[in-house]
Amino acid sequence: MTVVGPFGLSVRDQALEADVQAGLAAVEAGLLDATKSDVPFITEAAQHLVLAGGKRFRPLLVMLAAQFGDPYAPGVVPSAVVVELTHLATLYHDDVMDEADVRRGVDSANTRWGNSIAVLTGDFLFARASHTLADLGPEAVRIQSEAFERLVTGQILETAGPTDGRDPVEHYLDVLGGKTGSLVAVSCRFGAMMSGADESVVDILTQYGERLGVAFQLADDVLDIASDSHESGKTPGTDLREGIPTLPVLHLRAAAAAHGRPEDLELVALIDGDLGDDERHAEALRRLRAHPALEQARRDTVRYAEEARAMLAPLPEGYAKAALAEMCDAVVHRAG
Ligand code: IPE
Ligand code: IPE
Ligand code: MG
Ligand code: MG
Repeated sequence: MTVVGPFGLSVRDQALEADVQAGLAAVEAGLLDATKSDVPFITEAAQHLVLAGGKRFRPLLVMLAAQFGDPYAPGVVPSAVVVELTHLATLYHDDVMDEADVRRGVDSANTRWGNSIAVLTGDFLFARASHTLADLGPEAVRIQSEAFERLVTGQILETAGPTDGRDPVEHYLDVLGGKTGSLVAVSCRFGAMMSGADESVVDILTQYGERLGVAFQLADDVLDIASDSHESGKTPGTDLREGIPTLPVLHLRAAAAAHGRPEDLELVALIDGDLGDDERHAEALRRLRAHPALEQARRDTVRYAEEARAMLAPLPEGYAKAALAEMCDAVVHRAG
């Protein structure tokens, strides 16, 4: 058994391992190629985060989903390049929105070059993703454009917050489906579709990806509170500082409203106060890490991951199915 990639996937089959490694290597080459510009500075800015690393979660899913057909079919690698480029572009934009200073363990593009260059580099990456996508045909373009619309809608709805009277947890889960579930679902869908897998398999993997993506984002939101930047390559407590209400904070608010415990009310007041102050921010993080609301959010994450796993049931047994099932544990237990 070999352990592959940042998710520590245990692969028990040499053929699957070889396919995945070959696919991911080709994706790396494709990413470098797709981020080259005639203008050297654009190449530098566009490759900044490519070279910084990242987990390549979405390309990995493309490769695993492609195991249900021909993993060497010509559309598989380009479709993985498209989803990773799209993801990458959203990171450039997201770091501007979140005023994040660190990404993938290096300065964010906005820290290094300012907001304008970061936004425009994100646009450049979207343009390059579209270019590669065009060769995959109109059906792929339509699927990607719908997912992209959902992703952007999720980011906008997160920024706008829930409308009056809307349950904040429902709103939050909708946001997650949009901003993260959409592209993870497309990763699985493209892998299966490009490999020529049966339509029923494509549908199952799309639904699996949607739930896995939500679990992945729930875990990310827990990690924003629980991890340190060594592991995540990001600055902990960014959501808190930006006032983005993630599930642990929503659970805390619900508990404070329901039971009125003084320590909960105090923590809510701390979070609602000025977290631009480093000491108050560190104190809020310290208290949230110890609060049962964090554990409650972890349990919700596991529930979504288990829903994703259950979606796989009708698929033919085999190493690919086992690897996708293992991804459900990996997203929940990851450290970064
Ligand atoms: C970060 O995505 C943004 C989310 C949707 C949570 P990843 O955690 O996949 O980031 P990289 O690609 O590994 O840097
Ligand atoms: C961003 O969510 C999701 C997208 C980029 C679409 P987050 O804001 O939680 O991602 P991180 O934590 O900055 O990676
Ligand atoms: Mg962010
Ligand atoms: Mg986050």
